[in-house]
Amino acid sequence: MKITVIGAGRVGSSVALNCSLRELGDVMLLDIVEGLPQGEAMDINHQLAERGIDFTVSGSNNYEDMKGSEFVVVVAGVSRKPGMTRMDLLKTNADIVKGVCNKIKAFAHDSKIVVVTNPLDPLTYLVIKSLQGQRNKIMGMGGMLDLSRFKEHISTVTRISRESIQAMVISEHGENMLPLVRFSSMGGIPLSEFITPEQSEDLATKTKKIAAEVISLKGATVYAPGNAVSTMVESIVKNKRTILPVSALLEGEYGYSDVCIGVPCVLGNEGIEKIIELKLNENELEVFDLGIQSVKSAIRSFSL
Ligand code: LAC
Repeated sequence: MKITVIGAGRVGSSVALNCSLRELGDVMLLDIVEGLPQGEAMDINHQLAERGIDFTVSGSNNYEDMKGSEFVVVVAGVSRKPGMTRMDLLKTNADIVKGVCNKIKAFAHDSKIVVVTNPLDPLTYLVIKSLQGQRNKIMGMGGMLDLSRFKEHISTVTRISRESIQAMVISEHGENMLPLVRFSSMGGIPLSEFITPEQSEDLATKTKKIAAEVISLKGATVYAPGNAVSTMVESIVKNKRTILPVSALLEGEYGYSDVCIGVPCVLGNEGIEKIIELKLNENELEVFDLGIQSVKSAIRSFSL
């Protein structure tokens, strides 16, 4: 299994490290910055060597080296600065991602693709349309990251082990994300049995805002994104058929089409094997629709 990560900055290197530690395959780290992917690869290989892991990370500045990749993870792009929203990156990163798509078209057209670059949902759509790809093979990583934060906050408030928490976050990986208390549980018991409606609101707000807080403190989020991507890749590579929130192209699901948004999906060796349609209540549908409209508005700005 060959996994190419385009973008060897902190997030891309975290993706490479997490995929390697899970022994998902050999990783090719690509970047335009001379020496960066090569140095990151060497550093990670030294860690793998000590752990006796015989998968190898390579670094290159030549896109041709992605040839033969079963997976491509698109991390390339600028990350937001304190005070910015993910959507503020749309124009700059759309141009970068279009250029990356030309390289994928040339050297790894049949690969499965996980998009990470923000704003995640519109850019996942851009990659699918630019590559005229199959919607089961191209997906975005956003909800996985939101779910990670939601779990952390739930554990902190309830003081229950993170291991006992099942959580779900859908909609836009952005201002209109939708942490779903009704579809989250602890030890199989609905989360709503443990928290008040006020705590539920507070958890949702914290989940939405925490990335900006991390960015204001350390400049970028790194480890949680790398882990989230590798969980998705692992479910596909090992055909685990795990249910995970994934930015997927809707074609009628939830009553929407021609838009990418975070929804629960079954991830197996075909990629997105099923989109699960939850029975959302009125309030949940309202937020979900806000997410859809936000992404559709961004998509309209693309000249595809
Ligand atoms: C975050 C960025 C990766 O939520 O969107 O950390």
